[in-house]
Amino acid sequence: MDKLVRFGVSLERSLLQSFDKHIMSKNYSNRSEAIRDLIREDFVKIEWQEDKEVAGTITLVYNHHQRELVNRLTEIQHMHHALIISSHHVHLDHHNCLESVVVKGKASKIRELADKLKSAKGVKFGDLTMATTGKELK
Ligand code: NI
Repeated sequence: MDKLVRFGVSLERSLLQSFDKHIMSKNYSNRSEAIRDLIREDFVKIEWQEDKEVAGTITLVYNHHQRELVNRLTEIQHMHHALIISSHHVHLDHHNCLESVVVKGKASKIRELADKLKSAKGVKFGDLTMATTGKELK
């Protein structure tokens, strides 16, 4: 592990108070860990902006009775099979399914796949969680 380095930060008292309140509500035990996470979050955002190799999850909720929808979602996933690590289908109730698709690849390709799946007619909810492969993060 890297050696820890201490540094001072100057900021407005009110901003620090808001930050402390915020991190308490998020269950952080100290400011250092919260600041580390903010920095890492920003680096992950940059990985996506710079079209690096990233990982993530696409979550979809849809009614499987919707005509042709299941076939369409399967077809889209086959077209992009190289990006898909796994997919997990859960039958939420008689009508609704939740599918989570774990993906890894170039950010722009993953966005494209997520947009295609989310915009398929009949998908009630679609979301892309933009995560990281972790390779570039300390
Ligand atoms: Ni189902």
